Amino acid sequence: MEKIDVNCQNGSYNIFIDKGFESLAEALKEIDHEGCKAFIVTDSNVAPLYLESLKSVLKKIFAQVDHSEIKAGEESKNIKTVEDLYSALTCAKYTRSDYIFALGGGVVGDIAGFLAATYKRGLRFVQVPTTLLAMADSSIGGKNGVDYNGYKNMVGSFYNPILIYDNIETLKSLEDRQFANGFAEAMKSAIIKDSHYYEWMIDSMYEINDREDDALIELVSKSASIKKSVVENDPLDKGERALLNLGHTIGHAIEADKIGELLHGECVALGTVAAAFISWKKNMLSMEEYYEIRDMFVPFNLPISVDNIDKDHIIDNISNDKKVDNKGLKFILIKKIGKAVIDASVSKEEIMEALKEIEYSDEF
Ligand SMILES: NC(=O)c1ccc[n+]([C@@H]2O[C@H](COP(=O)([O-])OP(=O)(O)OC[C@H]3O[C@@H](n4cnc5c(N)ncnc54)[C@H](O)[C@@H]3O)[C@@H](O)[C@H]2O)c1
Ligand SMILES: [Zn+2]
Repeated sequence: MEKIDVNCQNGSYNIFIDKGFESLAEALKEIDHEGCKAFIVTDSNVAPLYLESLKSVLKKIFAQVDHSEIKAGEESKNIKTVEDLYSALTCAKYTRSDYIFALGGGVVGDIAGFLAATYKRGLRFVQVPTTLLAMADSSIGGKNGVDYNGYKNMVGSFYNPILIYDNIETLKSLEDRQFANGFAEAMKSAIIKDSHYYEWMIDSMYEINDREDDALIELVSKSASIKKSVVENDPLDKGERALLNLGHTIGHAIEADKIGELLHGECVALGTVAAAFISWKKNMLSMEEYYEIRDMFVPFNLPISVDNIDKDHIIDNISNDKKVDNKGLKFILIKKIGKAVIDASVSKEEIMEALKEIEYSDEF
């Protein structure tokens, strides 16, 4: 079992990475659970696959194990779902010394984290992520929340789990597109922080795409280590954590225009290509590295071009983005593979050129 310790000024916890759920019992050993109850939040896709295996491990440890299954998908990430979960916890008489487990992807993790942070001002929270996106990214760092009135992640808090348990076996049942979706965030983390990791990804392309055990363990542990180091330095998202937004400024704006068509990670891939293009045009990144970054998304089933985009609308979306503060747009650019920087000098014209670059054309 791999173990990564996360030490933030607002809380410390371990990330365990293993095959199967069995060693979760060992991971929980150090944590007091005498007479405590465990409530599992999961979704309608994950429950039939993994709920019983997780329950059978937890039943050996906890005095009582309950669960609630939400409908799979982002549409469930709202206050109403959280209210229903508050009712379930109240009915089953959960107290502050009990536990909430999140079994699922980022949607379940964000909902269950918010539930754990707010019910009776905080229950102990364990993340058991089952998507690559959640293992590599969303389960780490303590951010949680729900969407409100059409705005994503509008209501939420910072609340750390007491542990994260990644069972890499669960990644094998993910649809190919969902696997690629999470891989985009892993690739992004390598580009911002770790050129050796990036090279390993390219060298291990077949093993990763075949989801071989060793490759999955390496993929999850390296990505988690990068996210850990960034959140340790900036637990409340006030500085360095912005680097994790590589590809997200343009990515989010495309995502908003392509709801139901493109997944988040696919937009992050497009946004990263655009950011790499701007970095090259600003003479920060070499031409060779730009083309390498662009082309290396392709074997991992991620897009590097997109058709039918309204470029002016995307630029308007970017200007309204929350990352625009009074100092202008905070953009993440790439100096070289493994080193990203925060830059406030990107103009609308440069973004327009980058959008033209990623716009699909037959000559491409
Ligand atoms: N809190 C953070 O720091 C943070 C960071 C990034 C993203 N997020 C949030 O994460 C969410 C996206 O997470 P996601 O991509 O994991 O989406 P998701 O939770 O919707 O999961 C994607 C799909 O895969 C299914 N699924 C999950 N695990 C599976 C498995 N092992 N096998 C088969 N199917 C499985 C789900 O039911 C769902 O249909 C968004 O709401 C986003 O805002 C949060
Ligand atoms: Zn993202």
